[in-house]
Amino acid sequence: MFKKLAFGSLLAALALGPVAVSAAEEAAHIEDVAFSFEGPFGSFDQNQLQRGLQLYTEVCAACHGLRYVPIRTLSDEGGPGMPEDQVRAYAAQFPVLDEDANRHLYDPELGEFRPLVPSDHFPANTLQSAPDLSMMAKARAGFHGPLGTGINQLVKGMGGPEYIVALLTGYTGETKEEAGVVLYENTAFPGGWIAMAPPLAGEDVEFADGHANDLHHEAEDLAAFLMWSAEPKMMARKQAGFVGVLFLTLLSVLLYLTNKKLWAPHKGKEFH
Ligand code: HEC
Repeated sequence: MFKKLAFGSLLAALALGPVAVSAAEEAAHIEDVAFSFEGPFGSFDQNQLQRGLQLYTEVCAACHGLRYVPIRTLSDEGGPGMPEDQVRAYAAQFPVLDEDANRHLYDPELGEFRPLVPSDHFPANTLQSAPDLSMMAKARAGFHGPLGTGINQLVKGMGGPEYIVALLTGYTGETKEEAGVVLYENTAFPGGWIAMAPPLAGEDVEFADGHANDLHHEAEDLAAFLMWSAEPKMMARKQAGFVGVLFLTLLSVLLYLTNKKLWAPHKGKEFH
């Protein structure tokens, strides 16, 4: 009896679960983007990360924070790879806007915030309702299908960066006010209405390398940068993984040959 019940409810969950998820997914159309860091051998594009950093600094940092990211990691080889003197200069010019969230950077002798140094982390968010972006690319998923089973995540990845691209480019231009808060219609945001005004319009910054700065390119650069901030050691992980797989393949061959050799004297004998 109990078994029947359990089996029945399992069936029901299997039947209903995907339907519920796919209904939510219906609203969000998230396009796959061919990022350089995808696939087993993918790596971050340093120029793209630097463009993303510039966009983050000039646009997003006005509200958001990256409080788990140490500024010194901007010179990491697997990351933006900036020269150390540039990182020092970058840290020193970073304005600390919010007092409460960044108390530890306050210098009572100066009577103001001290200039940041590379060993500091990026300041925390300025606007209370704006979430910290350090892990955002891994905290969101762009792909849930087919039918909410998540199987295409095996092929395309979780789609966190794709979700960010879709979010930044997904504004329809419609707004509404609810309980005194202005909400903006967005095709990627669950529920369809987000409290963040469209942060990018295209041509928001000028890139030193003259790279295209239309809305879509800017969104991709930001998504790549936020993927790096969420997983700064991705390239080291992939290298270690590759060496590991190589080693295990070799080990399997050796074990197979050992096995053959050990059993060779007993092969072909008949036991009665
Ligand atoms: C004017 C302030 C402001 C600026 C500038 C801003 N944001 Fe936001 N952002 C917000 C607020 C507020 C929210 C929370 C919205 C909500 O939950 O409805 C948010 C939420 C988000 C989210 C989370 C969405 C989710 O799925 O929960 C992401 C990602 C994001 N912003 C990225 C960015 C990026 C990238 C930039 C720079 C291009 C940026 N924001 C600039 C205010 C801002």
